[in-house]
Amino acid sequence: MGKPQAGIFHDEADHHYYLEYRLREAAGADEIREALAAARACVPPEMDAVFAFGRRAWARVHSDAVPPALVDFEPIGSGARTAPATQRDVWIWLQGDGTEALVDAALAVDRPLSAVAVLEDEEHGFRRAEKRGFEGFIDGTENPQGEAARAAALVPEGDVGPGGSFVLTQRWVHDLHAFEALPLAVQEGVIGRTKAESVELEGDAMPATSHVSRTDVVVEGVKQKIFRRSLPWGGVAKQGLYFLAFACALSRFEIQLERMYGVAEDGLHDRVTEFSQAVSGAYWFAPSEEELAAALAAR
Ligand code: HEM
Repeated sequence: MGKPQAGIFHDEADHHYYLEYRLREAAGADEIREALAAARACVPPEMDAVFAFGRRAWARVHSDAVPPALVDFEPIGSGARTAPATQRDVWIWLQGDGTEALVDAALAVDRPLSAVAVLEDEEHGFRRAEKRGFEGFIDGTENPQGEAARAAALVPEGDVGPGGSFVLTQRWVHDLHAFEALPLAVQEGVIGRTKAESVELEGDAMPATSHVSRTDVVVEGVKQKIFRRSLPWGGVAKQGLYFLAFACALSRFEIQLERMYGVAEDGLHDRVTEFSQAVSGAYWFAPSEEELAAALAAR
């Protein structure tokens, strides 16, 4: 199996930067490859970087290795409870210890890319104490670790793109005033865990509409695990979660999102969607190191 891009699992940096590009229509495949290779070479050696592609872009640079399951993100839900689609072509995730070095690296990466692509979105994610989100809950408690994380995140041998990973990114904006106005026990029912210690609620105390109830899914005996690397973003006026997760199969995201947005068979929605609104949504493919190198090599 191919070697996954190291930054997927290497989880040490406190500061993260996300760049989303749309490829220029006029750019040729060779020109795009060259610009991406030059951008990769600009990442300082002490920094992790993950490069991922939307379906159309991956087909443009590596047409013989596009996983059939890779689709563009489509809106999910209806009315006010809708996850919007903002699918673009190239997603780059940089991880560093300080904001200055990180932004300098992002600027360096952007220079060669700007010839073939337009930067359409950027965000700065950062770790908060105890990995708590702005809403105050610990994020990542039930995340798989070690081999279980690899199994959840990586395309297995035998499928197209082994060692690669399907990626979901969604920027969420919280309504903190509304959430903080809820009594503690109700907040805990929204998430499905206690706030102080992140202990999972049990039995009757666990609402069917809690976030944990909607995302902890088993299909035909198989746990639909994903590997999450989300982080808070923002400041005083606006803030939320930059949701970022990796999966061995894109359908795992679809199943969880359908259950969150009330379009699964039981019609229930995730109460998190009452207090937080996704404002972006995209699916990407993060190829293995080998596939990425092959895709960016001159032809
Ligand atoms: C505003 C958006 C979100 C917030 C604030 C949030 C926060 C949390 C928190 C606090 C937990 C419990 C602790 C943990 O196990 O990490 C959790 C669990 C989880 N979340 Fe989210 N999350 C959000 C969006 C999403 C989305 C969009 C997905 C999937 C598409 C997702 C998938 C999961 C999964 C799979 C778990 C673990 C469930 C389990 O097995 O117990 N989350 N999230």
